[in-house]
Amino acid sequence: MDTRFFLTKTRVSKAETGLKEWIYPLFTIPESIESLITPRAWPLRGMGYLRELMAIRGRARRCWNAWKPHLEKSKATIRNAIEHCQQRRKALILGSGMLFDVPVAELSTAFREVLLMDIVHPLANWLPSSRYKNLRRVTADVTGTAEHVFRVAKLPGATLPRTEPSLFLDDPEVDLVVSLNLLSQLPVIPTTFLERVGVHAPEAIEAFARHLVASHLAYLQRFACTVTLITDVEKLTLDRAGKLVGKSSLLHGVPLPCEGETWTWHLAPRPEADPDYSYYRRVVETANPKRLGSGSGILLDGRR
Ligand SMILES: C[S@@+](CC[C@H](N)C(=O)[O-])C[C@H]1O[C@@H](n2cnc3c(N)ncnc32)[C@H](O)[C@@H]1O
Repeated sequence: MDTRFFLTKTRVSKAETGLKEWIYPLFTIPESIESLITPRAWPLRGMGYLRELMAIRGRARRCWNAWKPHLEKSKATIRNAIEHCQQRRKALILGSGMLFDVPVAELSTAFREVLLMDIVHPLANWLPSSRYKNLRRVTADVTGTAEHVFRVAKLPGATLPRTEPSLFLDDPEVDLVVSLNLLSQLPVIPTTFLERVGVHAPEAIEAFARHLVASHLAYLQRFACTVTLITDVEKLTLDRAGKLVGKSSLLHGVPLPCEGETWTWHLAPRPEADPDYSYYRRVVETANPKRLGSGSGILLDGRR
């Protein structure tokens, strides 16, 4: 197993998994302090991964009722995936974040070990508990490129990294992999950072974004076990009357190998992000997780 990106492994509490909107703030520490003391590599501090996660958490709190159906759908998809697993040694959850969409209790009961992987685990959800002893936090960049991007961002002429993610591919005990509302997020921070620095051409940045999406799909396809993908694929804009007025791809044109059930995530109902418009997401899951590995011909660079 490639351990280059591993920074910490920590147990996760039960309390952090079932928090309601009204009770959650009672558990939180001021964000400025949290930001200072949350462990992560120095380059990742500069790029803003924790800031983004805190923004997601803030929006989740404000829009909790609107988010609930999406979070429940995500959990139901994972429960369905658990049923597909004949062996239940290790479950690997990619993009576990705040655990809002993770059925922690069921995973913990079903599997010998549950690995929660994210590039940053906010301290606010590290409450101690002895109940779920088989949960492990793995702090890792699932793309393996973030630190490289940070290093080359200011170097004119430097090429952006290529990646072939391999974390846990060599662990034969992994029986379930879930890519959880992560895929569309993979390019967000690196491309925003590169655009802000302004050295690389927009075409190079877009090609890199596409490569990150495609290489994650290829990575999932290389697991021999049950694999489930849950991801938002389209951004939807609705006006005051609820009429759809805009639609754009979140996957930089990379096609999914297959699509199962689809639903709408009410990410930012009006006036959360805009007084006149609501911003929703079309989310897709793989109904039969095994089909993800059925050889759709997706190449690492996203071409068919
Ligand atoms: C939309 S959130 C997923 C929701 C999450 N399950 C929750 O309940 O908060 C996307 C997650 O992907 C993580 N992420 C983004 N880029 C990543 C990377 N390169 N490697 C690992 N995790 C990453 C973020 O930190 C964030 O927790």
